[in-house]
Amino acid sequence: MCGIIGYTGGKQASPILIKGLERLEYRGYDSSGIAVLDGTNIGIIKTRGKVEALKKKTDGGNKPHGTVGIGHTRWATHGVPSDVNSHPHLSQDGRFAVVHNGIIENYAEIKSDLESKGVVFASDTDSEVIAQLAAYLYNGNMTDTVRAVCERLVGSYAVGIISTEAPDTVYAMRKDNPLVIGLGKNENFIASDIAAALEHTHEFVQLGDGEFARLTSHTATFFDRDGNRIEKTPYSIDWDISRAEKAGYPHFMLKEIYEQPRAITDTVRPRIKGNEIVLDKIVLDAHNVNSIDKIDIIGCGSAYHAGIVGKSFIEKYCRIRVNCVLASEYIYSDPITDNRTLTIIISQSGETADTLAALKLAKKSGSHTVAVVNVLESAIAREADDVLYTHAGPEIAVATTKGYTTQVAALYLIGLKMARIKHNISEDRYKSLLRKITELPEKVQHILDDTSKIKTFAEKYSSHKCVFFIGRGTDYAASLEGALKLKEISYIHAEAYAAGELKHGTISLIEKGTITIAIVTQSALQQKMLSNIKAVQSRYGSVLAIATPKTSDVGEFCDGMFVMPECDDDLSPVLTAVALQLFAYYVAADRGCDIDKPRNLAKSVTVE
Ligand code: G6P
Repeated sequence: MCGIIGYTGGKQASPILIKGLERLEYRGYDSSGIAVLDGTNIGIIKTRGKVEALKKKTDGGNKPHGTVGIGHTRWATHGVPSDVNSHPHLSQDGRFAVVHNGIIENYAEIKSDLESKGVVFASDTDSEVIAQLAAYLYNGNMTDTVRAVCERLVGSYAVGIISTEAPDTVYAMRKDNPLVIGLGKNENFIASDIAAALEHTHEFVQLGDGEFARLTSHTATFFDRDGNRIEKTPYSIDWDISRAEKAGYPHFMLKEIYEQPRAITDTVRPRIKGNEIVLDKIVLDAHNVNSIDKIDIIGCGSAYHAGIVGKSFIEKYCRIRVNCVLASEYIYSDPITDNRTLTIIISQSGETADTLAALKLAKKSGSHTVAVVNVLESAIAREADDVLYTHAGPEIAVATTKGYTTQVAALYLIGLKMARIKHNISEDRYKSLLRKITELPEKVQHILDDTSKIKTFAEKYSSHKCVFFIGRGTDYAASLEGALKLKEISYIHAEAYAAGELKHGTISLIEKGTITIAIVTQSALQQKMLSNIKAVQSRYGSVLAIATPKTSDVGEFCDGMFVMPECDDDLSPVLTAVALQLFAYYVAADRGCDIDKPRNLAKSVTVE
């Protein structure tokens, strides 16, 4: 959702900005633009549409000329997608250019105030007020001006500013919106996320809430909200830029699906020392675990679905009540939370606004918070009391794949560790589950080694208008994620139902031509699932089964079946997720959809 890149250094800024914007495309956007300072003037080129269109307008990134600049991909919130509403925005006197992510809640008030003083606005956006305000407040000292601008803004923002008043400098400020500073050799960067600057540097600094930065090619100076200079410690990213490239795959999503054996290994292996699970610096000892009487797991989208898988695993083995809550619901629900609640916050990006707000609320209520996050040093990772990183690597496709399966794997580790502390699991079962978790990558690889059957099913059914997913227990949790994947990228209406609920309403929707994907990996629930499958077929619906060798008898009663490798019933959601990701992918590919950037969706949802 919106992307920012900024550059100051010795090279031409435009090609660097355009390349950075291409790397930010995955966040979701509808227009883009760049502003470049040539020492005297600011040149702006912007357009509605894809970065490809911007590339054409800038002669392939050859103009405007200059070595200092800012760029932006916009996801419209205030004002329709159009050339004029695209960023960067210029102050009416042409001295200040601004890119902004987030929402300025008091923009109307600032706008009418400035209009009453004769300022004429060009766009319908909230963001333009930042450029106009900077020009209006400028007092001969840029740092002072930037601080004064921050002081007036209410809302959330990550902002990049350039000005003819400081022609070698990029200013950056942030509050409740992601922004990193990349420290290069004789050049510095600002970026919404590291992927945009990773080919230039591996050293980054996170700006804290309310902080701002002044960057020239040779200096990076940081300030707190009162304008006092502060020291910041850089951190290094060991992700290689090739991890953020397609590496020959037609889509990032397919590449990321295939990266799952490595991603799960990286998430799990370093945490297993002999028979012990060591969760980095998280202190889960008998004292802490026994004082917990409830766990809240909070997330959005697929992260929430990972939480539902985690809930059944943790409840089964820890015998602690677990609530899995959507972050957007949690924040307005007056949650019953105190210091006996452990709150597990799940987020791939670590920046989702609703999830961040939920985390803050849980902390305020006295709960201990543990974040399961992929992106290093992201807002959620920094805000939580403890963090357990999933080492999935950069995830570019909007629809998460390796982000999700590594979250599930991380929750297995947390659950298993707590179960052992609470003596709710036999040592044999503990060891066997631990071993089976480490075997998950090779089982995933097995599915990936031959995807032909899933592809054939997908192509056979890709023109259907509606697909139901059913399952029981942990298979129901897996079906939620399967349905989300399909609707996200193929635009086919897909719904997941607890199989036992079919008869309470949904079955009225089943007719000839309806496809139901039945997930049957739980041996104990196989017969119940069979009854549900037969009920669908009696209404002339077609059924595809996802099973394991143990449950493959159901195939006899289905129109098709994909058999996954043998797997412990409790761990099957990881394998099911991979099979259903592939199904969704091949359906979307057959329909010619924009798989990596589905319409209206954003990778990182930084507004509530
Ligand atoms: C967006 C993405 C989803 C993701 C959700 C939560 O909606 O499109 O794929 O699951 O945000 O994102 P997070 O980064 O918090 O896991």
